[in-house]
Amino acid sequence: MANPIIAPSILAAEFTRLGEEVKAVANADWIHVDIMDGHFVPNLSFGPDITRAVDEVTDQVLDVHLMIENPGRWIEAYAKAGADCIIFHVEAVDSVAGAIQLARDIRALGVRAGFSIKPATPVEQWLDLLEECDLALVMSVEPGFGGQKFMPEMVEKVRTLRAEIDRRGLHTVIEIDGGISAETIRVAAEAGCDAFVAGSAVFKHSEPAAKAAAVEELRRLATV
Ligand code: DX5
Ligand code: ZN
Repeated sequence: MANPIIAPSILAAEFTRLGEEVKAVANADWIHVDIMDGHFVPNLSFGPDITRAVDEVTDQVLDVHLMIENPGRWIEAYAKAGADCIIFHVEAVDSVAGAIQLARDIRALGVRAGFSIKPATPVEQWLDLLEECDLALVMSVEPGFGGQKFMPEMVEKVRTLRAEIDRRGLHTVIEIDGGISAETIRVAAEAGCDAFVAGSAVFKHSEPAAKAAAVEELRRLATV
């Protein structure tokens, strides 16, 4: 990837200083916002109000990852909160037709649409979404928590998506999320990934300059 997209996940940020944390990674391309409802995943994070607060301190693209049940009910609230891309989980919709409709509803709000697949979900049955979405997010950990170990076997899904997107002449962005670090990012980049979420690998550093340096290092390693 010539210009990899680096998307720090604020799930790993220090919440009492969220504004400063976002500003520390001003050199990143996107800001990844993990929304968890305690039902679709066994954890809670934040909602539209915190998303809006983040939007107010940055012009970066807000990449909003909905790990929630009934995502269609919430897309308008996140669009109003400043989301630039809204990603839903295919496991939270009942059919390909339902997912296509949801993607269209997201785009109708003037927001990019993305779909995400959990580790146990094969990508093959969802490939019809590629024409309907701007982004496909491959989970390389079980969603719900930051700081987990990268699942290298998920890179095969990136290869499948890359081949299919190229074959169809599409521009759908492939993003990977979970356990991305200086040790793991390159294999995903070599498989054809465009965008890389990194939580702990960026925000584990306490000095702001070290967070920015971690973003630069990830970008360098993902340039293949
Ligand atoms: C997991 C979230 C990820 C997470 C990544 O459910 O979707 O975005 O914050 O964190 P790290 O990079 O620490 O695995
Ligand atoms: Zn995420």
